[in-house]
Amino acid sequence: MFDIKKITVLGAGAMGNGIAQVSAQAGYQVIMQDITEEALQRGMATIRKSLDKMASKGKIAPEKVEETLSRINTAVDLEEAAKDADLVIEAVPEILDLKIEIYKRLDVVCKPEAIFGSNTSTLPITVLGAATKRPQQVCGIHFMNPVPVMPGVELIKGRLTSDEVMEVAVNYVKSIGREACLAVDYAGFIVSRLLDVVQNEACKLVMEGNAPEEIDKAMKLCANWPIGPCALMDLVGLDIVEHGLGTLENDLGPEYKAAPLLRQMVRAGELGRKTGRGFYEYNK
Ligand SMILES: NC(=O)c1ccc[n+]([C@@H]2O[C@H](COP(=O)([O-])OP(=O)(O)OC[C@H]3O[C@@H](n4cnc5c(N)ncnc54)[C@H](O)[C@@H]3O)[C@@H](O)[C@H]2O)c1
Repeated sequence: MFDIKKITVLGAGAMGNGIAQVSAQAGYQVIMQDITEEALQRGMATIRKSLDKMASKGKIAPEKVEETLSRINTAVDLEEAAKDADLVIEAVPEILDLKIEIYKRLDVVCKPEAIFGSNTSTLPITVLGAATKRPQQVCGIHFMNPVPVMPGVELIKGRLTSDEVMEVAVNYVKSIGREACLAVDYAGFIVSRLLDVVQNEACKLVMEGNAPEEIDKAMKLCANWPIGPCALMDLVGLDIVEHGLGTLENDLGPEYKAAPLLRQMVRAGELGRKTGRGFYEYNK
């Protein structure tokens, strides 16, 4: 079995810094890469804050904070960051052309046996694998937000991903104390596809005259959801939901077209919490 020791995480944003954190907590040597020093510093500060909070709640021993941080190095240069990696986890923005460009560069710079895992929410893994000469070593490793808290990781087998690489990915997920959920490689996989569809239907329900408060209350009290779909859209960002639906529509068909209300709210800048207004109002 291929032994993973060194992990490179591309992107130090909301997902990347969490992935770097949980990997370092499990004992891996991690390099977190981003395109600016500022992004890396922000990512490291978020990791420190998260570890401090865990220590103050008694979830980890206090000495684990510095120990974990000492296992994370940072780099701006992709080639320097990835050349020795056994596993590269890519968490750069959800832009297909950007991701393809990165996979082409990784393929040149990385060791032949290195495995690539994408944290993409919706983009088919087979497309990313096709940008490399090692599609058998490219899979989806889809973490959930917030990474240090969520217990499940969706693992996606591209059309050409080998069984051996999936086994390595399952073992990596186990080694960081998470549970792998196996998904087939069509746009949106399991989690994003179901959530995007439900969220889109919630937009249609609002268009038909239902109040967001009632939709959310119904799903919390009658379906045992921890958060209602309208509040969830406000949290994730309505633009992100629309973008995800666009990928599903392109890949799977017109039934995934974003609801007119969703498109209209995005055009109006009502993106949810990040703009102070979505289905609900927020104090900025
Ligand atoms: N935010 C979520 O809830 C969530 C959940 C699951 C999956 N995802 C997926 O994770 C990926 C990252 O999302 P995010 O929310 O962390 O985004 P983000 O915008 O918070 O972070 C992305 C980071 O990537 C950096 N970046 C941009 N171009 C880069 C490049 N060429 N090389 C290296 N770094 C680069 C940015 O500077 C930024 O720090 C996306 O594919 C997204 O779909 C997001």
